[in-house]
Amino acid sequence: MALAPSESLEWSLPVPSVQELAIQKLDKVPLRYVRDDLDQTTPSNPSLRVPLIDMNKLVNPEFHEKELQKLHFACQEWGVFQIINHGVFDESLSKMRQQVQEFFDLPLQEKKRWAQKPGSLEGYGQAFVTSEEQKLEWNDMIFLKTLPLQDRSLNFWPGNPQEFRKTLESYSEDMRNVAVSIVRFITMGLGLEAQKFCDTFEEGTYELRMNCYPPCPEPDRVIGLNPHADISGITLLLECGDTAGLQVLKDEHWVNVEPVNGAIVVNLGHIIEIISNGNYKAPDHRAVVNNSKQRMSIVTFCYPNPSVDIGPAEKLIKSGSPPVYKTLTNAEYFHSFFNRKLEVSFIDSLKIQLS
Ligand code: OGA
Ligand code: NI
Repeated sequence: MALAPSESLEWSLPVPSVQELAIQKLDKVPLRYVRDDLDQTTPSNPSLRVPLIDMNKLVNPEFHEKELQKLHFACQEWGVFQIINHGVFDESLSKMRQQVQEFFDLPLQEKKRWAQKPGSLEGYGQAFVTSEEQKLEWNDMIFLKTLPLQDRSLNFWPGNPQEFRKTLESYSEDMRNVAVSIVRFITMGLGLEAQKFCDTFEEGTYELRMNCYPPCPEPDRVIGLNPHADISGITLLLECGDTAGLQVLKDEHWVNVEPVNGAIVVNLGHIIEIISNGNYKAPDHRAVVNNSKQRMSIVTFCYPNPSVDIGPAEKLIKSGSPPVYKTLTNAEYFHSFFNRKLEVSFIDSLKIQLS
């Protein structure tokens, strides 16, 4: 579809599908993907392991206290952990993985039936690209708002594979249940009244981003996903296979998040960081790629109900420490994000300035 020039600047410029590039078996990646601009000096630490939390232990009186301590530590020191025994059936997760794979395996023209449209971030496409000079990520994706029901734009929900919409519906409900139970324990870890927070996530807003990272002829010169922290409350990531690619910044080292069978990766977003008054931090993370295997990830961004203000929990303020972050309405929070100055970190812009 040709777009009027005035319109085309308001949305992501069309860029090639990375899957299509990968099929061409190039020796070198096109210049727009070469990321010599990125700081590659941050070292990796291959020996560190992201904490593993067992939900069965959290709900079992015998093990609860010890596992909650472990979770509290994970949130303070890492901002990311993997959970097992999260209550979602293996078959449901496998079905979702299978259909995401089938979707990305479709011919480009078919996938484009659900392509992003002017002015919308939803749909199939690539990263949000606003200039011809902008460097690109080695990533194709599809982004959908999944909950509440009235936020859905079903015209972006792929009708191929045939069962995909149904699977997406039940997957989003499964992820909401996981989010609510994990928020219960995160807020307990902070010593807060958990039910109130569970309710806001029960009635929260959920978005789904399905990522495809094709193999790359020069994996060390590109990035799958730029380093960032999520603006969600929490983010739930499901790996589609056993190829690692997600890395988290821990004590100034990149640490690989190794896929664990049946686990869901949880990382804290800025909203939990703010509620915790900085006790818990949203970690920087990124995705790297490799030269032999395609990797896919299924990422759910979980937000509290938009009627709830975003600010440090009162109880944490009263008990001594002054608030580190401003309290904003949901609308102000997103407005600040979408209108942020790129040279200032978003989370720093939400801190109360000490004079
Ligand atoms: C994201 C994200 C990481 C990954 O989509 O926000 O951090 O490994 N994804 O896909
Ligand atoms: Ni992320």
